[in-house]
Amino acid sequence: QRILFASSEVYPLIKTGGLADVSGGLPSALVALGHDVKVIMPAYQQVMNNLNKVSVLSQFDVGGCGRTLRVRVLQAKVSGLEAPVWLIDIPELFNRPGNPYLAADGRDWWDNGERFGVFSKAVIEVAMNRAGLNWQADVVHANDWQTGLVPALLTLETAAPRSVFTVHNMAYAGLFPKSFFDAMWLPWDWWQPDGIEFYGYMSMLKAGIRYADWVTTVSPTYAKEMCYPEFAYGLEGVLQQRSAQGRLVGILNGIDDHEWNPATDKYISYNYSAEKGRVSEKTKNKTLLLTLLGHPAPEAMAQVPLIGLVGRLVDQKGIDLVLDQLPYWLEKHNLNMVVVGTGMTHYEQALLNLSYRFPDRLFVHLGYSETLAHQVEAGADMFLMPSRFEPCGLNQMYSLAYGTPPIVHHTGGLADTVVNATAAHIADKTANGFVFYDPNPYALTAAVEHAIELYNKPKTWQQIQKTGMNRASGWQTSAQAYLNLYLQELDHGH
Ligand code: ADP
Ligand code: GLC
Repeated sequence: QRILFASSEVYPLIKTGGLADVSGGLPSALVALGHDVKVIMPAYQQVMNNLNKVSVLSQFDVGGCGRTLRVRVLQAKVSGLEAPVWLIDIPELFNRPGNPYLAADGRDWWDNGERFGVFSKAVIEVAMNRAGLNWQADVVHANDWQTGLVPALLTLETAAPRSVFTVHNMAYAGLFPKSFFDAMWLPWDWWQPDGIEFYGYMSMLKAGIRYADWVTTVSPTYAKEMCYPEFAYGLEGVLQQRSAQGRLVGILNGIDDHEWNPATDKYISYNYSAEKGRVSEKTKNKTLLLTLLGHPAPEAMAQVPLIGLVGRLVDQKGIDLVLDQLPYWLEKHNLNMVVVGTGMTHYEQALLNLSYRFPDRLFVHLGYSETLAHQVEAGADMFLMPSRFEPCGLNQMYSLAYGTPPIVHHTGGLADTVVNATAAHIADKTANGFVFYDPNPYALTAAVEHAIELYNKPKTWQQIQKTGMNRASGWQTSAQAYLNLYLQELDHGH
């Protein structure tokens, strides 16, 4: 199969969250299964700065908002990625510094509609072999609202490739005004609730969901949850419809077991595995991490639990629950905590304020650091992920692999990957972490205290660690599931 994989972020080129990890890992796994995969993404300034060799493959024009834009397709071979990357170079839209979505003031770029609308149009030209690349896609796999127009635009083509649209997060709808819809010359009959109109706006997320041959999301539990109003933000109708047609599928993400493997991780000082010398090496990583963070007596902390949290500091991640209970944990228990993240200013500020109150025990790093993310996974004793919703979640899977039992809310991919350390699950050796079932601060604290209690029972704790570390986690199974979808016959009439 010739697969065109379209994404707005791809690790290691540019990353704001898990979408980048998936866009790096899944295409490589598809290549390993013997397929011809091209990853297509915008040529952001930061990406171009990181690449030292790109070749120009072709150029063509696409229509933007009331203007025609010249597109160059560049190709790069990136180490770590098995599939070649095709970069859509449109300097007017993408030659800007920093984050793929946000301007320096932290707000969305004013023209994100045009940026990703035009990118989606360019993807169509490439997929339909009109871009001078001598390559016709059999399948186009688009991801999240940024490429939501791709499946919709493909329905306008004759002999179009199959389309798969993966929803990584329902919370980002890609809403734009009617004036934008008109300026992009999209088919007028899409402007209706059964098209891509959404309460007076156009929704690029809805476009992907409504028009793709297959809609997927990144865990089986989220595939069910997303059909409910609490998780769908008004798109439950179209999701229920796709689900009733049998066209909505949940496929759990894998993790990149080269990048995220404690036995080979290049960001950590003491590599370890489930087999040999696990616990002592993990403790060395903890001591080093605490030293780095400025703990006054890191050596004395070997038996004191260190809780880690890495992630975007946004409502989704349940940061409010943590802020509510963290002072209590630090007062009542002998423990240390490290937080690495960026996001909403009020969360950042509240965490900083707390760290001033507990300067020797709570360490807050506001910023993006790949290195620290790995060091926290390796050095922490437990990993906190109390997300209110979580389509898949990668960090809890990294934690499992690193022998750092996760403490999670029972939702989405967290529910599909973490098995609570109940007496029964400890007895049958399936327990790998700690789960709470209602997103309230007291339930979270109960789970944290349960974890601390078991941390003090080393035999049980080691078994929980080992169960997580031995969990099969690579991309192969998921890649095979996507392939089955790519190849599955579509019964027509939908
Ligand atoms: P989401 O995609 O919702 O942000 P995931 O758990 O799927 O959540 O993926 C998050 C990814 O981003 C992980 O690879 C995580 O390590 C990384 N990440 C998030 N915040 C940071 C940060 N501040 N520094 C380094 N890595 C981060
Ligand atoms: C989204 C979700 C996260 C998921 C990631 C990759 O960012 O928030 O749960 O793991 O996409 O699919």
